[in-house]
Amino acid sequence: MHQYIQDFSKHEGQSVIVKGWVANKRESKTNIFIVFRDGTGFAQCVVNVDEIGEEQFAAAKSLTQESSVILTGTVVKDAKQIGGYEVQVSHLEIVHITEDYPITPKEHGVKFLEDRRHLWLRSSRQWAIMRIRNQIIMGIHAFFQDNGFVQMDAPLFTGSACEGTTNLFETDFFGEPAYLSQSGQLYGEAMAMAMGKIYTFGPTFRAEKSKTPRHLSEFWMIEPEMAYYTNEMNMDLIENFVRSVVNRVLEKAKHELEVLGRDVSKLANVNAAFPRVSYEDSIKILRGELEVDGKNAITLQEQDLQAAKDGIVAAEAKIAENELIIKGGIKKGKRNQLQSQIDSLKNDIKIYDEQIRNIPQWIESAKNFSDGEDFGGSDETVLTRVFAAPVMVYNWPTKIKAFYMKEVEGDEHHVKGVDLLAPEGYGEIVGGSERETDIEILLRKIDEHELDPKDFSWYLDLRRYGSVPHSGFGLGLERLVRWICDLDHVRETIPFPRRYGHLFP
Ligand code: 4AD
Ligand code: MG
Repeated sequence: MHQYIQDFSKHEGQSVIVKGWVANKRESKTNIFIVFRDGTGFAQCVVNVDEIGEEQFAAAKSLTQESSVILTGTVVKDAKQIGGYEVQVSHLEIVHITEDYPITPKEHGVKFLEDRRHLWLRSSRQWAIMRIRNQIIMGIHAFFQDNGFVQMDAPLFTGSACEGTTNLFETDFFGEPAYLSQSGQLYGEAMAMAMGKIYTFGPTFRAEKSKTPRHLSEFWMIEPEMAYYTNEMNMDLIENFVRSVVNRVLEKAKHELEVLGRDVSKLANVNAAFPRVSYEDSIKILRGELEVDGKNAITLQEQDLQAAKDGIVAAEAKIAENELIIKGGIKKGKRNQLQSQIDSLKNDIKIYDEQIRNIPQWIESAKNFSDGEDFGGSDETVLTRVFAAPVMVYNWPTKIKAFYMKEVEGDEHHVKGVDLLAPEGYGEIVGGSERETDIEILLRKIDEHELDPKDFSWYLDLRRYGSVPHSGFGLGLERLVRWICDLDHVRETIPFPRRYGHLFP
């Protein structure tokens, strides 16, 4: 039997056998320091020539990045080290020597990494993200299972469109056209009428040709559906659900969030009430016509723009200062430290530059936003900037939402839809609604959306037999992972992303 890094606290002072790979290696005359990983964690392992002997020391020397190796050694507590423990190696057995591992500690372009996703998954950031994703998935199941929901699966081959006909992947189902599911919702409604409260958890497919940081062609969606739920009850559920999942991650994935450098105080804002704003009010906030707690969305953008400009001036000054010190000649350790500070400042400048390019356009788009339109990504960023907690926007214009959303009483121009927008610019992570129960209205909407009523005959049966008010929502798993991990792009939120233009590896 061998042991795992994640269990080191149980083996303090004992000899363990660990099986894994070399993430990184540093050498001095008498010591070799290996950053070792076994999938459960990372730990520094020290090979000392006097302890291990010349022959084994030479073997350790031959280890390269991502070589696989079995180590025997003593676990010693060392708060300075990653994970808090160090292994003093007494024996090593090489399993495989890797040559020319393509992903080195230097900066690689993101395209380079994405094309090597099968290897990129081994790096510490990706490792942390995948473990957080796992905690999120477990947190989602725990929440619904603890609240009386039954998990049920919707089919992935479907004969009809749920979320519009423009983004369907068509396939051939024994000679008949079939589509990959865009959403399990319609089937979820049937299952809720049988079971009361259900949730689906499965892959969904959208053929949008969008290259944005938030769009995948294949993503995982969690779709609860509840009989006898109004949209207000739906919103209560969304709030409790998202809060519960985020708090679980904060509790169970502390180390992984630390690896990512995530500002967890921002995530803890989920413990405040989620503001609920009607679409009509939200567009006033967006245009800067309505303030929230004295905060004006447009003014905040202008301040962010100024802060980016000031940030560049400060970063450039600091870079010049460091470069001058380096030029003057200093010790290697100090030089490396200053150089890495310069690299990180240069990265900050890139981010500021992007803000300086983007913010003026965002302000234009926000100020000129016209009633009845759907929010673009930047509009969501501007709108949510005035809130610290996720915000719910409800009662949306009928014409931009799906056919199944229930009309607001006495107002056919608005439907009881709700979107949950995450803070920090992450935008929509949940879309949901109360469902229309009036068969006449549904038939009219199906017609207006140019859908074939024949495809929906079974769906309309749900309104013919024991029809009840009901609601539900869909959470995009990768959108949630992206926000919780604070990632630039959804490409890092799923093991093997499928998005427009990317099918490899
Ligand atoms: O808002 P959407 O389209 O809603 C539905 O599909 C409903 N049928 C859900 C329901 O009421 N049962 O999608 C729901 C969520 C979005 O809020 C977003 O988080 C995610 O799915 N999503 C995507 N995630 C990644 N890539 C895409 N292309 C996505 N499209 C939607
Ligand atoms: Mg949506």
